[in-house]
Amino acid sequence: MSFFNEPQGAAILKHGILKRYLPLYATKVGSVAGEVLYLDCYAGPGLYGDGSDGSPALALATADALAGYRGKAFLHGHLIEKDRDSVEELRELLEDRGAASWEVHHGRAEAHVPRILATLDPSVPMFAFIDPFGLPIPFEMVAQIMRRSGVWIGGGVRIGAATEVLMNFSKSGINRVGGQLTGAGTDPRWLRARDTMVDRLDAALGGQWWHDIWRSGDHDRVDRIRKDYAERLRKAAGAHWAYFDIGVSDKWQGPATYQLLLFTQHEDGVWGFHECLSSAYEDYRAYCHHAEGMLDLEPLAERELKWVQHIEENVERLLATERPFKPVHYLEEVFGDAFGEAREKHLRKALKNLHSRGKLSMNLKGRRLGELTLKP
Ligand SMILES: C[S@@+](CC[C@H](N)C(=O)[O-])C[C@H]1O[C@@H](n2cnc3c(N)ncnc32)[C@H](O)[C@@H]1O
Repeated sequence: MSFFNEPQGAAILKHGILKRYLPLYATKVGSVAGEVLYLDCYAGPGLYGDGSDGSPALALATADALAGYRGKAFLHGHLIEKDRDSVEELRELLEDRGAASWEVHHGRAEAHVPRILATLDPSVPMFAFIDPFGLPIPFEMVAQIMRRSGVWIGGGVRIGAATEVLMNFSKSGINRVGGQLTGAGTDPRWLRARDTMVDRLDAALGGQWWHDIWRSGDHDRVDRIRKDYAERLRKAAGAHWAYFDIGVSDKWQGPATYQLLLFTQHEDGVWGFHECLSSAYEDYRAYCHHAEGMLDLEPLAERELKWVQHIEENVERLLATERPFKPVHYLEEVFGDAFGEAREKHLRKALKNLHSRGKLSMNLKGRRLGELTLKP
């Protein structure tokens, strides 16, 4: 069966996140800039065989939804795809959706990205989606995209444009090449092929630093390589970055098929992404239960009760340290086991409970929790 016949579980979650987060991001950053760029480095054909939306169709739907608000040219797409048939399908899709100004670039992302970046207005915000089957574009290229975000020079002024990256980071690419790195073959042809593969992974990860981690043989070496990679990218991009690292599986509670990494520089991005993750996760849960023929033995209402109680305990513990804190800086501590599942409304309920128990004196009415500082 072809990958693009119908989306599997992992794609349901990936697209659930993209279709929620892209409009949020574009509305937020575009309200100042007046225009937003969407760069899809591994676009695919746009639609699946069963008519479901792939990432380009989701971005087009976002552009349509925002057109009423800002004008048709508000979200402008650059779609890169290597496969000729998929490129044809993309062109048809753009024509059908009246998006003639969007550009399709046929060929390899690593060849197109530097040229596209060089031609784009550096003051226009960009959302880049990097969704390969295997290895992503080289580390330096991802860092170059992120460096568009420039620097904050104080007083809320930025030189550069708000830029964010959502990336599919696959374990299988690392496992495959890592296996070659420590392979014991001596055949010259094999050695040459191995060196080429290792060189490509070195470029994707930004150096040979991962060799030692791989050679350690540790059971968590691929996770360590991914975490190091994300940290190195953050540093190479040269400004304050936060990132999410979300495991995505084709099966309910199955092993991660890949990880989604989101890099953002803004607290609103952190808060908003977590909100989107939570709603996307609920759809994904329903999809997996249906697809795997399972009854959902824990209905939403029951889970919500547990989440609220859990968050309440977590916040109470944080308040006990007697230091004021912003929940957006402590998402994992605040949401705990409900991270990525619960969201703002559950936190609000937990805070109300703390308020009625006399543990929190602040009035939360009309306050956006993503901006709030909690004081004991
Ligand atoms: C995982 S799929 C993309 C799915 C798509 N982003 C979506 O969400 O609907 C990866 C795509 O990358 C394309 N591809 C593979 N190598 C590529 C490269 N070097 N540059 C650009 N596209 C490539 C493949 O043909 C495939 O369509």
